[in-house]
Amino acid sequence: MADATFYFPADFKWGTATAAHQVEGQNTNNQWWAWEQAPGHIQNGDRSGDACGWWQDAEPDFDRMVEMGCNAHRLSIEWSRIEPREGRFDSAAVGRYRAMLLSLRRRGIEPMVTLHHFTNPQWLEERGGWEHTDVVVPLFARYAARVVKDMGDLCDLWCTVNEPNIYASLGYLSDHRMPPGLTNRLDKAMAVMCNMLLGHAAAYRALHERQSLARVGLAHHMRLFQPLHPSSLADRTVACLLDGAFNRDILNALLHGRWSLAMWRGRPPSPRPLRGTLDWVGVNYYSRQGVAFDRASPATLFARLVNMPDVPLSDFGYGDIHPEGILPLLKLLAAGRLPVYITESGLPDADDRLRPGFILRQLRALWSAVQFQLIQGYYHWTLTDNFEWGEGWRMKFGLYAFDASTGIRTPRRSALLYRDIIRRNGIDGDIVREYAPELVEQLFPG
Ligand code: FCB
Repeated sequence: MADATFYFPADFKWGTATAAHQVEGQNTNNQWWAWEQAPGHIQNGDRSGDACGWWQDAEPDFDRMVEMGCNAHRLSIEWSRIEPREGRFDSAAVGRYRAMLLSLRRRGIEPMVTLHHFTNPQWLEERGGWEHTDVVVPLFARYAARVVKDMGDLCDLWCTVNEPNIYASLGYLSDHRMPPGLTNRLDKAMAVMCNMLLGHAAAYRALHERQSLARVGLAHHMRLFQPLHPSSLADRTVACLLDGAFNRDILNALLHGRWSLAMWRGRPPSPRPLRGTLDWVGVNYYSRQGVAFDRASPATLFARLVNMPDVPLSDFGYGDIHPEGILPLLKLLAAGRLPVYITESGLPDADDRLRPGFILRQLRALWSAVQFQLIQGYYHWTLTDNFEWGEGWRMKFGLYAFDASTGIRTPRRSALLYRDIIRRNGIDGDIVREYAPELVEQLFPG
């Protein structure tokens, strides 16, 4: 069997993914910059600072994408640069983004542009961020309209918002992980998540009005929730509740225009505008999440988050290595019959001990899914190590190692692996033998 090749479709998109604040540097006008300045918010007191210097010069990193053979890249546009004051748009910032998009295109790399990846302009933050429907939804639609007017000749693949569930839960439920740093505010978390979906829908319309061929979706973070003790009814129940709240409710809202009961306290705005606002759906997948019933944790639906036993963990216990966990999640999307992009997937692994195996197993799993679903591309998170939000610089997600003090990038073996997979447009025995020989039997049984 090891001579077989798991080929991907000829037009498959092979890419990497980044977010503006994590790579550009000097994004001084958003809420994250302000958050980073206060002690205790970021591991080791790190700051984004100059990040990977993309605002000055991203092109050498675009060349690295070319060296790996990528034909796609997902990047985000920083709202606080485009609209530094409410209603005032900055043509120089637009010019810089246009130059970046052109550079990507000239290299044969199709850009996917994300409009919101966790950062808000400071002026929006002062008006409550995503908490108030009437404030944020029209403002986001106006920003989207502006971006497509100014950049629509260079991009037609749009990702409106990144991970509403993560933005809402880390900002409003958990302890100081993301701004605004609230804890146990389930009411606000739900309102914010729903407003992000309504903002997505408004942006969907704004983009399509000005660009009839626009392809618009969003990036949904999905996790596989597994009961710690599969024989325990209580563990199974909380796993199912979390799967609903984190994975399925957002899909139901977008696909069927229905809020789930848990989603909104008080009188919610109509979910009807959500219907029919996905041309594709993006999945960000990192790891599985073990859960156990815990009567002392009402804020997390009575679930305690745990690691599954005997599974290797990536650096700093970020998550367990279970790339096949993406398959049951993809099945949840099947009913929508939409094209799917894997808009992020990766792990922090400074020594590149686990990454090659993770990538191979992840792509092998996706290959099976490709047989029954329209999966159009895979964007690995990420090209080079970058500013990892509250984790600062310590978590290394890059195919390339990045030394922030010198700016030097060094390819990890995974970058070479990714290059070989892209060259082959698939996975074969030679590649597995070279990069993760321990997986030959698992990937090519018999
Ligand atoms: C995702 C975020 C991305 C990065 C990765 C590791 O949740 O979208 O910006 O932080 O995790």
